[in-house]
Amino acid sequence: MDTIRVAALVGSLREGSYTRLACDRALAVADSDDRVETDCIDLREFDLPVYNSDLDEPGDSAELLDRVERADSVLLGSPNYHGSYSAPLKNALDYCGFDEFEDTTVGLLTVAGGSFPTGALDHLRIVARAVNAWVLPHQVAIPNVSSRYEDGELVDEDYAERVDTLGRRLVEYANIEPSPATVESESNVGADD
Ligand SMILES: Cc1cc2nc3c(=O)[nH]c(=O)nc-3n(C[C@H](O)[C@H](O)[C@H](O)COP(=O)(O)O)c2cc1C
Repeated sequence: MDTIRVAALVGSLREGSYTRLACDRALAVADSDDRVETDCIDLREFDLPVYNSDLDEPGDSAELLDRVERADSVLLGSPNYHGSYSAPLKNALDYCGFDEFEDTTVGLLTVAGGSFPTGALDHLRIVARAVNAWVLPHQVAIPNVSSRYEDGELVDEDYAERVDTLGRRLVEYANIEPSPATVESESNVGADD
């Protein structure tokens, strides 16, 4: 039985992050399948300087790349910051590229303090497609997020079902037929001289 590796990259550094809680829930659903191994990539645990292509493997970037690359499916979770996704997640994604995401299934999840959470999902979908990831159509945006949680538990049944479905789909579509390499994967290799 081949192991299916499902990771979540959590884009909030906040101690009581709803993004992390929602990602943990999706991972727990994925983990209920015997074939699955999960990995919560918590960026609080990483020394990850702002990306600078002059620096060779700074801080814990090698570990980040290794853990993302190993995953068959990666859930990108982010708080909505100013209508988009967060700087910690953007920074982590800038370290990554085709090597980490090509042939990888990606799920998208965002939480927002307010009522219009979808911008982060739209922007993350563009970034994920730019590195030729295969992005699940089903995605989760939880608006007014603090009202949906009680004592760390997602008590809104509709949103809980959306998160659970995302967890299942990350497993179901973990090993899809890879797309052909894009032209960009040959030419868009970063800012090397
Ligand atoms: C810098 C910043 C910008 C934010 N911008 C928005 C926003 O544009 N729309 C919104 O609904 N909430 C916004 N929020 C609220 C966050 O989405 C909300 O606090 C969320 O719970 C943070 O995610 P976390 O719990 O995972 O840390 C913002 C919060 C911060 C700190």
